[in-house]
Amino acid sequence: MTLRLAVIGAGIMGADHARIIAEDLPGATLQVICDASAERARAVAEAHGAADVATDPEAVIARPDVDAVLIASPDETHAPLTLACIAADRPVLCEKPLAPGSAACIEVMEAEIAAGKRLEQLGFMRRFDGSYTEMKAALDGGQIGRALMMHNFHRNVDSPGSWFTGPMAITNSASHEFDVVRFVLGTDYATISAFQPKRSDDMVAPVMMVLETAAGQLVNIEINNNAAYGYDVRGELVGEAGSVMMSTPVYATYNSQLAHAERYAADWRRRYAEAYRLQNRAFLDFAVTGRPSAIAASAWDGYAAAVAGEAGVKALASGAKAPVEMMAKPDFYS
Ligand SMILES: NC(=O)c1ccc[n+]([C@@H]2O[C@H](COP(=O)([O-])OP(=O)(O)OC[C@H]3O[C@@H](n4cnc5c(N)ncnc54)[C@H](O)[C@@H]3O)[C@@H](O)[C@H]2O)c1
Repeated sequence: MTLRLAVIGAGIMGADHARIIAEDLPGATLQVICDASAERARAVAEAHGAADVATDPEAVIARPDVDAVLIASPDETHAPLTLACIAADRPVLCEKPLAPGSAACIEVMEAEIAAGKRLEQLGFMRRFDGSYTEMKAALDGGQIGRALMMHNFHRNVDSPGSWFTGPMAITNSASHEFDVVRFVLGTDYATISAFQPKRSDDMVAPVMMVLETAAGQLVNIEINNNAAYGYDVRGELVGEAGSVMMSTPVYATYNSQLAHAERYAADWRRRYAEAYRLQNRAFLDFAVTGRPSAIAASAWDGYAAAVAGEAGVKALASGAKAPVEMMAKPDFYS
């Protein structure tokens, strides 16, 4: 008996998820590829052997031959489509962020609580990346003492389009850091400050954020979506008795013209290939057993990232430190 999965959104991420399901997820079948563009859905379905294609995501979620759903359409579709999955009793792996704002995340949590069972896994795949799991293990194991600071750099070659703004760098790109830092440190945020340097052109400038955690640690996050040179994520967790610095997997070093060089990836897919694979396996297990992964992010974690993002947008606009104020955590997510 295999789990029949529908992928909604067949762009960069949806095509990658379809490949993982088809090639690397024993126990799952690629049942439907759904995209607003029929042509795009067909191309991805043909490339990865999906049984069917569709353009209406709500109809796909309700199909009796679909057991679970992977949402990889744009950010603003995530919460409405997740709500449709919960209403149809379909386990759902939704790409990050759960929603650009916290109100929609609360709606998702309320629907899941009313359904009486966990159905949502959120695509914060860095929780499955070896760099962060080693940081967390070193901290939890007492190897570096109490955590003091966590440094984070997140750079993309270029932003997705001219519509991508500084506030979107906070609510979309930085949602990865908001989540994975909370996951590693095991604490929530208290405040956030955000700043942007001036660029010489009209491209979106980097956003620099500093957060204070509820436990008194400092976290800095640089999001640079027009870094030009490559996809580059770095980080270091600093404790009172040592630090853990992130390494990026490298498969070759080039020696030529008196230089010793390594290549950068063009984007995130190669850097986090193993994390996406492990995340999707955890989702398959969750969808089959009904038991959520202990590592994966929930709707509550999506809410926490959205609250940090909203406070970050306010801090960027005002130039002042903003409080990160969350509702009490529902027992359902404990
Ligand atoms: N986890 C990660 O590392 C990671 C990386 C990149 C993007 N993302 C997230 O994945 C999502 C998709 O990003 P992408 O880069 O693949 O975008 P994309 O623009 O390449 O693809 C989005 C696709 O969704 C389709 N679409 C739009 N509205 C739709 C709808 N209502 N129903 C069905 N299909 C619809 C579009 O036609 C397009 O093919 C975004 O929310 C983004 O934040 C996550």
